[in-house]
Amino acid sequence: MIAIGSDHGGYELKEALKKHLDDIGVAYEDCGCYDTNSIDYAVIAKKVCDSITAGKCDKGILVCGTGIGMSMAANKVKGIRAAVCGDCFSAKFTRLHNDANVLCLGARVVGVGLATEIVDLYINTPFEGGRHARRVAQIAAIEDGTFEG
Ligand code: RB5
Repeated sequence: MIAIGSDHGGYELKEALKKHLDDIGVAYEDCGCYDTNSIDYAVIAKKVCDSITAGKCDKGILVCGTGIGMSMAANKVKGIRAAVCGDCFSAKFTRLHNDANVLCLGARVVGVGLATEIVDLYINTPFEGGRHARRVAQIAAIEDGTFEG
């Protein structure tokens, strides 16, 4: 299941992406926001990330104006690897190489068509593992304060 959320700046794109997820039969949990009233992006980023770290959802999608605030907030949560993607190549490789578990999108950067293609790649591309697993483990070690690289 995918945890999806946005601030007010990403609300309309989130709603369009929910429709796409419905169309392709992918289950999601909508962590808000639920209208275009102003809401701080960190509030929603925390909700989506908590859903992932609790094991309720295995991936997340966060949408704000640029995707950047959401990614900064999400990457403060232990166990979260959030990637802002504005192109298909990045979406594919952040799954293959970084095992990203949160995709961040900028609603003021990408249109619905591109965002939908990015989401499809993000959902359908597996982690490659191998040498990339070592590198992802190094990210976790930095987070834990045990990195000795
Ligand atoms: C809200 O105006 C905007 O700052 C937010 O959506 C996001 O772009 C922050 O990174």
